[in-house]
Amino acid sequence: MALERTLSIIKPDAVAKNVIGEIYTRFEKAGLKIVAAKMKQLTREEAEGFYAVHRERPFFGALVEFMISGPVMIQALEGDDAIARNRELMGATNPKDAAPGTIRADFADSIDANAVHGSDGPETAKNEIAYFFTEAELASR
Ligand code: TYD
Repeated sequence: MALERTLSIIKPDAVAKNVIGEIYTRFEKAGLKIVAAKMKQLTREEAEGFYAVHRERPFFGALVEFMISGPVMIQALEGDDAIARNRELMGATNPKDAAPGTIRADFADSIDANAVHGSDGPETAKNEIAYFFTEAELASR
């Protein structure tokens, strides 16, 4: 098992539902440590830049609108196989397909308002963490 870091975002729908603590508990129970965190109202430019890989997809405009519809909670998680472990906790992109007990099954309403983001690989994890946090903001735990 590799010690990894991954970027997690609790999206505006889940922040509005007041379940940040419940989601943090799931991270901690799964052995993931929060090594950096900030709540932030994303600007349109920040949301567009973060999801730039999806720029040509039909849902891009709606995704950006959703991500700026309220504050998000952004965290870097650290642990063994943190990238895959967080994806397991999150569940499938569409909450209808998400396994019972996953964050999206429990808290997401639809494929576009799906509660959480998690990096999908080592390269994206590195880039996404650097998108929101400086080296100095990442705690060593
Ligand atoms: P994607 O990277 O495919 O999923 P994941 O978040 O599970 O890594 O898509 C990024 C986000 O784009 C997804 O969380 C919600 C949004 N999205 C839609 O709104 N509609 C769609 O059909 C897809 C595939 C994604």
